[in-house]
Amino acid sequence: MRTEKIFAGKTLAILSGGGDTPAINSSIEAVRNRASMLGFKVFGVLRGWKGLLGDGDIVDLTNIPYNGIYGGTGLLSSRTNPFPSKKNPEDRSQQILRNIERYKIDVLVTIGGDDTNGAAKRMYETYGIPVIGFPKTIDNDLRTRTMHHYKGKQYETVLCPGFASGAMQIKKMAAKLHTTNESHQRIMVLEVMGRDAGWLTGTASFGGAQISLIPEVEMTKERKDFFFEFVKEKYMSSPTKSLIIAVSEGVRWWNEEKQMLDMVYASSDLDEYGHPRFGGVSGVIASEINKKLGVEARGQISGYIPRAGKCYEYDRRLTSTLADKVVDLLLREDYGKMPVMRDIVPYCELEEFHTDAIEMGNIGNFPLPELYYNANEFTFTEQYTDFLKNIIGEPYRMEFATQFPIVIPQE
Ligand code: F6P
Repeated sequence: MRTEKIFAGKTLAILSGGGDTPAINSSIEAVRNRASMLGFKVFGVLRGWKGLLGDGDIVDLTNIPYNGIYGGTGLLSSRTNPFPSKKNPEDRSQQILRNIERYKIDVLVTIGGDDTNGAAKRMYETYGIPVIGFPKTIDNDLRTRTMHHYKGKQYETVLCPGFASGAMQIKKMAAKLHTTNESHQRIMVLEVMGRDAGWLTGTASFGGAQISLIPEVEMTKERKDFFFEFVKEKYMSSPTKSLIIAVSEGVRWWNEEKQMLDMVYASSDLDEYGHPRFGGVSGVIASEINKKLGVEARGQISGYIPRAGKCYEYDRRLTSTLADKVVDLLLREDYGKMPVMRDIVPYCELEEFHTDAIEMGNIGNFPLPELYYNANEFTFTEQYTDFLKNIIGEPYRMEFATQFPIVIPQE
């Protein structure tokens, strides 16, 4: 009988980089538990790639309790890019190599989106560092090559840990907003994170948002005119005389003053991956609606709410399932890969036999498929609804059901 665990004497390190999600601690816990069982000593690298710069900032995760339900990341995060960028032209990848050697790290698991895993891919391709990427993003725009089967057809779609929890928050937020909105018979413009993709914005439709604008479809001058007409009609025909319009923070919106398509920035400062920070387009759209249609409109930024709070059940099970695939990759010493779901499945079918692993070289951004959005009606299609139902259940909307009889004065 073999008494020693297969990876005894080896060390696996985990890092998390980029914007946090409610599912990162769950991913860390799931990978840590499985790696420990295989015999690895498990380290945590603090603040993403930053924790492997300089002297390193490493903690031991092997035998300590870990709360995987608590959202965010216990390993902390940063948007550090070890490779040269506009913001920081210095190539710091040698520092990473040095620390991987100093801390005797045999395998590195990088929990991240396109940026963090893009850097991991370069570390793997350039220096042969044994890395396994682990997907995460509430934006759901990291290519996972997941297939969505619907009515006998299949479409390439995306499923990233973090999206389900973020989606639950946006669905709830949109559903709640109706009460105040209906009371004032307003149009509420709900801004949702998503620089380049409208995956998360679509989830507001499950809380009853009637109209949506996404970054994939530019709001040119002509489309804006059409949009205002559409909003007017929809508002007038709405039984409550109120509307919720969900809008991605990164929507390309025609700027009358500048006479060009533009985005609304919260800060022009770029991070180390070249991204600016968006914020405020909801206010701009609300004020234009107000001016053009004479209807009271308000902007509401959902901001960090979808990133905040606990990890929801779907994400919890998804992260465990993908961590099972990490075990498979470790056992086969198959590095430079990222575990993914092969198919879109409901909660009860999140099982390892539905997983796959894609080459880190194939990692990149993946926008919302055209089939998921109807640009003429500014709504999400039945295909998208079916996709999302698998992940967060049925659409939900509270309603004030009472109808008041109208009182006519007695002459
Ligand atoms: O991680 C991506 C994201 O959620 C984007 O949708 C958003 O623009 C960005 O994070 C904001 O991140 P932060 O303000 O934390 O840098």
